[in-house]
Amino acid sequence: MHSMFITVERTPEGVRMIDQRRLPREETYLVFREPEEVAEAIRDMVVRGAPAIGVSAAFGLALGASRAADLPADRFRERMEQLFRLFADARPTAVNLFWAIDKVRESLDCGLAGGQDPGAIAAQIERLAQTVHDDDLESCRAIGRFGADLVPDRGTVLTHCNAGGLATAGYGTALGVIRGAVAAGKKVRVLADETRPFLQGARLTAWELMEDGIDTVLITDNMAGALMRRGEIDVVVVGSDRIAANGDIANKIGTYSVAVLAREHGIPFYVAAPLTTIDRNCPDGDRIPIEERDRSEVTSMFGVEIAPEGVGVMNPAFDVTPAEYIAGIVTDKGVARPPYTESLAALFSR
Ligand code: MRU
Repeated sequence: MHSMFITVERTPEGVRMIDQRRLPREETYLVFREPEEVAEAIRDMVVRGAPAIGVSAAFGLALGASRAADLPADRFRERMEQLFRLFADARPTAVNLFWAIDKVRESLDCGLAGGQDPGAIAAQIERLAQTVHDDDLESCRAIGRFGADLVPDRGTVLTHCNAGGLATAGYGTALGVIRGAVAAGKKVRVLADETRPFLQGARLTAWELMEDGIDTVLITDNMAGALMRRGEIDVVVVGSDRIAANGDIANKIGTYSVAVLAREHGIPFYVAAPLTTIDRNCPDGDRIPIEERDRSEVTSMFGVEIAPEGVGVMNPAFDVTPAEYIAGIVTDKGVARPPYTESLAALFSR
């Protein structure tokens, strides 16, 4: 079972990504030759999903470092600082973005402190970015192995948004758990929430699971409760953009409603994410910055206006699910169980 698409990669020309805005109707790839274009691609959701955003930022910064490698050391540092600010402004919620920026900054500081020239530092940052990519892929596979046990031998998994290969370097987090279960020989059916307003579920999750031949059923977001009541859902698995130290999680808007419904119906609700999604400096979900996106995502679909002109609109892209609703957090180092303050901290010392 192998997904054939490449979410993001570094090529000799620049940073190459599948254009997720056009899926599933068109499978096109874009090559970005300047770091500013990569930051814009993150903002515009050519690439999205917390780990994929982090990997793309690492590649974008590596591209920027290589382009600036001929500058003297002080101007090289200034240019990199400018790029750190640019990438940090791209999207606020996915902590993997800030994690990747910090990694590149450490590499820069270390190189400059050691008296290395910008060319050598840029080469080091390029290697680091590739490692960020490769490690993410490995982490997702580990999440799949740990998470497979949580899925019944024969059953239906509900997922929300897209936490798949498209949202990571490949394989996925929530979809990694599903892929892990299928690889272990389980008979899994997936219900994919369409995920208004950007339709990551309908366009991306449904597409990538079907590419893998996994039994996939698309539902609209407002069907989940009724289907739980009918006994159609055995387990819920979602991804996350940021996990606070106490186990509260931010994920795509609508995740909280699914978690509350799951609790009401006695269905286990799991979150799958690599350790890079855990923000140990964030004590709880109330401190997670929630991105507010453009009103046009709500008032129009594929360029067609569907709401009266001038109507008030809210468009928070994420919500917070409190830890008390979460049966377990599947990471690349194992499954954390409540109480999360202790269990998540313990994972970092493994
Ligand atoms: O706005 P998006 O599409 O970037 O939101 C993505 C999600 O909410 C995912 O569930 C999350 O990033 C986890 S991806 C493995």
